[in-house]
Parts: sequence; structure tokens; C-alpha cells
Amino acid sequence: MESIESVGVVGAGRMGAEIALLFALAGSRVVLKDASLDLAEKGKARLEGVLDKLLKRGKVPAEANAAALQRISPSDDWRPFAEADLVIEAVFEKFSVKQEVFAELNKACKPECLLLTNTSSIPITQLASQVDAQRRGLFLGAHFFSPASIMALVEVIPGLETGEGTVEWVLEICRAIGKTPIKVKDVPGFAVNRIFHVMIIEACRLVEEGVASPEDVDIACRLGLGHPVGPFHLMDLLGNDLTARVQDILFREYGERFRPRPNLKQKVDAGHLGSKAGRGWLLSDRT
Ligand SMILES: NC(=O)c1ccc[n+]([C@@H]2O[C@H](COP(=O)([O-])OP(=O)(O)OC[C@H]3O[C@@H](n4cnc5c(N)ncnc54)[C@H](O)[C@@H]3O)[C@@H](O)[C@H]2O)c1
Repeated sequence: MESIESVGVVGAGRMGAEIALLFALAGSRVVLKDASLDLAEKGKARLEGVLDKLLKRGKVPAEANAAALQRISPSDDWRPFAEADLVIEAVFEKFSVKQEVFAELNKACKPECLLLTNTSSIPITQLASQVDAQRRGLFLGAHFFSPASIMALVEVIPGLETGEGTVEWVLEICRAIGKTPIKVKDVPGFAVNRIFHVMIIEACRLVEEGVASPEDVDIACRLGLGHPVGPFHLMDLLGNDLTARVQDILFREYGERFRPRPNLKQKVDAGHLGSKAGRGWLLSDRT
């Protein structure tokens, strides 16, 4: 990829590792940092399975495989970030954690480095204010979707001080790594989560009213709306705790239309968090 030779990714979890892979597949050298070297290496190790799946789906050419993984260097060190042309932050969704990360990046990165965050809910402008004023023109949100190796969309979100040229450049970079970007304003939930949560709140309401079961609502969305997976399957995958947390934020910001439904809160209270807990909307018979 022209001019993006070196990429830094902070956070080797569900999102960060696959984002690292996308850049490596496009030809960049990538340093993949987590809190420890062990976590960074585990993040990279998971990518072998991800690559296999991409290969089976014909999403990447076979010869790209090994070379891409070799371009990813796990690390627990900030020093390699001095070389990066672009850094993307994908650590826990907690302001204080991201604040510390951007303080380190502010020290480590060269002045012309693009600084991206994959936050789902923290205002981009608030995160941008954690780096020096002269860096903020190069700071913006790049919201990938899970699984990042498969989902084509990236919401590109400028903060208040992001340069217009930066936005255009990042839109181009997203296309170069095989994604379809859209430009979205820095508002809570950006665009996709606002649409998504209105839909799943209504899905929960249908179940509460006894209109249809979670299984049948999922069938309705798949066969009636052409969605690849239904809302209850998705909530199980994402985690009911995360879903409820996002709805609390959206409710605070936008009011009634995002009020989380009592049946979702009940799932969280019961610890039926979804696939990670082995129990959720569609998993309750398995335990
Ligand atoms: N999971 C999703 O569906 C999804 C979708 C879009 C955006 N996001 C956003 O992406 C970000 C990451 O989410 P995730 O699901 O990958 O989380 P995750 O918990 O899977 O991964 C986060 C990683 O960050 C690491 N980390 C924490 N503190 C660190 C630090 N100081 N330095 C380096 N690494 C650190 C953790 O060890 C962990 O490996 C969040 O901001 C989240 O809101 C998530």
C-alpha cells in the first residue's frame, strides 16, 4: 500500500488482531502490541485460523497466506511505534485505558503518523484531545465491524479538528485494504449502531409481548429481510452485557427510543451473557 509501509496496532483482541491481518495482507509491516508479549503472540496465533477461513471462502489468494503472517510482529514495547505511518488503537472500551494508550502514542509516534481509534462509543473528539494539538488534524475514528476480516464496512469518523485531507486519505486506505468506508459524524453510536439497536430493541419487545420466539424472530429477519444472521443470534455472539451497555449509552444520549428492554437486563442479571457464557437467547438448552 503506497506510503503505509509501517502500521502499529494497539490491542491484539477480537478486533485488533484481525485489523492487523488486513493491513498485513495489503502489504504493510505491522507491529501488534498488547499489554504483554504473551497476549500479543496469542492474538497473532489466532490469525492462523482466521486466514484458513478466509482462504476457504476464497477471500485471499493462497500465496498471500504465510507472507502476511510473517509481516506481523507481536510486541509489548512502544518503541517500534516510532516507525509507524499509521496506528490504530483497539484496546478495551474504557476511556481511562484508551487515555493511557494515547499518552504513550503521543510520545512514541512521529508527528506525521495517522492516529486511528476503533472505539464503538467514545467521542472521537474526546480521544483526540489526549494527544498534542498539532497531531489532532491526523486523528480520527475508523470503526471496523466484527469479524473485521469479513465485514466490509468501516465507519470513518472525523473529530472536530480532523483535517479534510486526513479523512480522504483514510477513506482511500480503507479501500486499499479491501473495505468499503462511509464517512459518519462524531455522534453517539455513529450510524450503524443507531440502526442496529433500534432493531434489536424492537426484537426484544416482540419476545416480551409473546408475538414470536427469539428463534422465530431470527428466522423472520433472515428469511423476510435477507439478514445473514438474526438479532438474537447476534446478541449471543456480541454478548448481552455489551449490548446492554451500549443501549445505556444510547438511551442517555437520545432518550426513550433506545431504552433497553427488561428482558435484556434480565439476561444480564442472570449471567446469560451469550456464547461466552454458554447461555443466552438461543443457547439456554445447551447447559
Ligand atoms: N468486538 C466488537 O464487536 C467490536 C466492534 C467494533 C469496535 N469494537 C471496539 O474495538 C475495541 C476493542 O474491542 P475488542 O472486542 O477487540 O476487545 P478485546 O477485549 O477482545 O481486546 C482488547 C485488547 O486490548 C488489550 N489491551 C488492554 N489494555 C491495553 C494496553 N494498555 N495496551 C495494549 N493492549 C491493551 C487487551 O489485553 C485485549 O487483548 C473497543 O474499543 C471496542 O469498542 C469492538
